[in-house]
Amino acid sequence: SAAEKDGHDWFMRKEIFEQPRAVADSLLGRRGVDGRLQLDEMRLSDQELRDITKIIIIACGTSFYAGMVAKYAIEHWCRIPVEVELASEFRYRDPILDYSTLVVAISQSGETADTLQAIRHARTQRSKVLAICNTNGSTIPRESDAVIYTHAGPEIGVASTKGFLTQLVACYLLALYLAQVKGTRFGDEIDQVLGQLEAMPEQIEKVLALAPDVYALAREHVQSRSVLFLGRHAGYPVALEGALKLKELAYLHAEGFAAGELKHGPIALVEEGLPVLCVVPPRGRDQLHDKMLSGIQEVRARGARTLCLAEEGDEQVAPYADELIRLPRVPVLLQPLVAVVPLQLFACELATALGYDVDQPRNLAKSVTVE
Ligand code: G6P
Repeated sequence: SAAEKDGHDWFMRKEIFEQPRAVADSLLGRRGVDGRLQLDEMRLSDQELRDITKIIIIACGTSFYAGMVAKYAIEHWCRIPVEVELASEFRYRDPILDYSTLVVAISQSGETADTLQAIRHARTQRSKVLAICNTNGSTIPRESDAVIYTHAGPEIGVASTKGFLTQLVACYLLALYLAQVKGTRFGDEIDQVLGQLEAMPEQIEKVLALAPDVYALAREHVQSRSVLFLGRHAGYPVALEGALKLKELAYLHAEGFAAGELKHGPIALVEEGLPVLCVVPPRGRDQLHDKMLSGIQEVRARGARTLCLAEEGDEQVAPYADELIRLPRVPVLLQPLVAVVPLQLFACELATALGYDVDQPRNLAKSVTVE
């Protein structure tokens, strides 16, 4: 009923709007009395964590994209090599594992068969397994050595939204915790990022306030046959997730690319009027932002219609953006928390306009318990 959905037409839409709360809840109680980060359910000792020489993140679907973001954060803050792999591929390729490898399994439901089989395999190879999961007492955390629970609350819509944002939060917390334990970052740096994370619910609210603009944009695209998504760095997994949402909900051909790869193939797809959603990185000391802009110019010069997500105050992007959605200014590693929200809204509205069942898309299941 409408009441269960808080007056929204779909559970998914309700869940998108619950994201500030879900992110806040997932951050709750993570600081000890001394202000330092603590992870209560982390059953691995500091010594065990210090002994880790490699991390392999395994997941499926949307959770896999959270894992891709985690790789950027963990390698940057902790200097531990991270691989990210689809659970279904990992299990059957005889991966190299030992006691100094930490396997991180990300699963909203905690019941995905591919992920479960992957962690079972990892444990036979003596690797420690840490689950990031939204479902208390589900199979994956029960069979893991340690767990970080996300606090999204029950997610009903088949396509994951608040599940994804809270997974990102858990990944950042894990990365910061490892940095704290290994001493790869100073306490005040960790404290600063924690503060930035704690400010995210407010930033996500700002993005949600733009929903009417995003909806209008989505409705202009009901005739589109194909949509491309471009991103770089932490924006690359966001592009992949934006494309996945459109496939899942609107049954549209949608593909995400790393913007730097355009010239190695995807640019051949660009034709007059093709919508290209561009996740523009924040302006920073590196060249990410400028390289992204040249990618946007390239596709636009070939006729693409560029729909850009870019931070407030970024005036350089305006001349190349056919449509511009403003994101709050946040650090590049945290940008996925705000950048993915308009893409969720876009897919939800486009699918609604096409008359599809957003909460239960055809052929998909909330949790896939067969391999
Ligand atoms: C299914 C769902 C996706 C989800 C994936 C992984 O395919 O439809 O939304 O991302 O499973 O689920 P998990 O519960 O393991 O995160």
